[in-house]
Amino acid sequence: MCGIVGYLGPRTTYEVLLEGLRRLEYRGYDSAGVAIQVNGHLEVIKAQGKLSVLADLLAQRKPEGRSGIGHTRWATHGPPSEINSHPHCDCEGHIAVVHNGIIENYLELREKLQAEGHKFKSQTDTEVIPHLLEKYYRGDLEKAMQRALKDIQGSYAAVALVDKQPGLIVAARQYSPLVAGIGEGENFVASDIPAILKFTRKAYLIDNGEMVVVTEQNIDVKTIEGKSVKKPVFQVKWDAAMAEKGGHKHFMIKEILEQPDALRQTIGQRIRGRGPTLNLEETKFSDAFLKRIKKIVIIACGTASYAGMAGGYCIERLCGVPVIVDVASELQHRECMFDKSTLGIAISQSGETADTLQAIRMARRQGAKVLAITNVIGSSVARESDSNLYIQAGPEIGVASTKAYTSQILAMLLFAMKLAEVRGAIKPARLRGLLRAIKKLPDQAAEFLAKEAKHVKRLAKKYLWCKRYLYLGRGPNYSTAMEGALKLKEIAYIDAEGYAAGEMKHGPLALVTEECTVMSAVVEGEHYEKSLGNLQEIRARGGKVIAIANEGDAEIEKYADDVIRIPKTDELLSPVLAGIPVQLYAYHVADMLGCEIDQPRNLAKSVTVE
Ligand code: F6R
Repeated sequence: MCGIVGYLGPRTTYEVLLEGLRRLEYRGYDSAGVAIQVNGHLEVIKAQGKLSVLADLLAQRKPEGRSGIGHTRWATHGPPSEINSHPHCDCEGHIAVVHNGIIENYLELREKLQAEGHKFKSQTDTEVIPHLLEKYYRGDLEKAMQRALKDIQGSYAAVALVDKQPGLIVAARQYSPLVAGIGEGENFVASDIPAILKFTRKAYLIDNGEMVVVTEQNIDVKTIEGKSVKKPVFQVKWDAAMAEKGGHKHFMIKEILEQPDALRQTIGQRIRGRGPTLNLEETKFSDAFLKRIKKIVIIACGTASYAGMAGGYCIERLCGVPVIVDVASELQHRECMFDKSTLGIAISQSGETADTLQAIRMARRQGAKVLAITNVIGSSVARESDSNLYIQAGPEIGVASTKAYTSQILAMLLFAMKLAEVRGAIKPARLRGLLRAIKKLPDQAAEFLAKEAKHVKRLAKKYLWCKRYLYLGRGPNYSTAMEGALKLKEIAYIDAEGYAAGEMKHGPLALVTEECTVMSAVVEGEHYEKSLGNLQEIRARGGKVIAIANEGDAEIEKYADDVIRIPKTDELLSPVLAGIPVQLYAYHVADMLGCEIDQPRNLAKSVTVE
């Protein structure tokens, strides 16, 4: 989950690298560094801490050169420190390497290299790469890389420079993302497209087992065995300004407020006409296969898995197909989950989450087909799945997922409709009604934000004293409870637990005292009455209740200390709207507590290690 970037060309190299790293800082941010070719030697400058520390150093030293590599780190082996930050070098400082991923056999390689006389400086797994390159280098970096990779087991996007071959960068990929940006008289490599967006809109998406040999004039894509690969040019359609904060204090709030647009984009052309009708041709699965599915397994982590819970509930209710949700890190060990009649639905904003990828691979190995619901076109999850349904929510930069969450639920809902339609499990009138209701969701989200956002902020202030929260929900909004608790934990560092409301009496009720605040989504529908009963139990024990309820629900006032109102929709669709207040609430609490919202401690945006 580190960020890497490389540049060759006439611009001021360290400025290009810094610009790229700034766009990648969400991938990791405990230290950063660059290596630049300066007059026949490599100048390596590294710093612990945020990128601004490195930027200050570079502004003082101004290393001049036409090629360089840079890295922003999220520690996996060895604590954050200047020594452990990348780039790492060989014994003599002739070769520099930046790396994202994990070298699984690094201890063994390190011992071997040390026995051969190599001197290591850091505690990282990465450092074995420059030493292996040193061992195999005979005047050709490409060949040395090919040879070194034969020794390495694990995951990598590795980028190398050598002082003896100025104007050359060699990079290779196995399981960690890598792109090569195509410029005119200049070229780039990076772990993610935003890093190069300011300079080019054309790129090659490098696949597992491939390497790129890059000069100012050329990009050669090859297999790591050295066979030429013909790659299509990927045209990037994102606007660079889309990835900026747009005048907001944090990416997170910007992205919360973008949800009406994100939801609109997710719907796109998928619901058409006045009928309306559903068009999900892109999912590619034949009707025969969709009819044959006996079980669906959601493959996802964290917030994405909660989106899977909400969507999975809808699939079960509409289609009668059982849906199993387990986090991908556990799922990959539940080998009896998949077979030919199972559909895996992999949900991932980044499309690069290592646990999710591992579970996808297992599912496919066992004969299941996998549908990917991702935000990043061409990401690993998208490429390793049988079919894709892109959420089209636009870049999400804040570490805490917000707009991707509601768009993921929406994409799941669309797929649920498709499955129900193909299987003849839903009456046409009910389907049309639900599609009409889905079409209204973007406007309803906008309406909620316009009417209630200030009220949510006031509540965040009113309850700022509270250090213990329970989030409750039933049915489709069990997911809202889980997601609300996660948001508060990860950005405000407050103890919060999400529970199915019916589970309270089996233990968690003991936690309820006057010091505890309970937030609960209690929307009109099948679960309404029972949810009110749960709120009563809480207030009887002195707990404070904030209810997320529908507009026009007068009854709820009797059961809650405070109410946040969301527009009314079908209960099955309600997690899309109920998800927004829990994000907003966590955001304002964290902001009032002065937390680092876009980069919460110990977390990174894209978790590309298991
Ligand atoms: C929490 C959050 C994480 C991610 C999880 C999966 O706000 O963002 O829990 O949802 O790490 O990430 P993706 O969706 O990129 O696979």
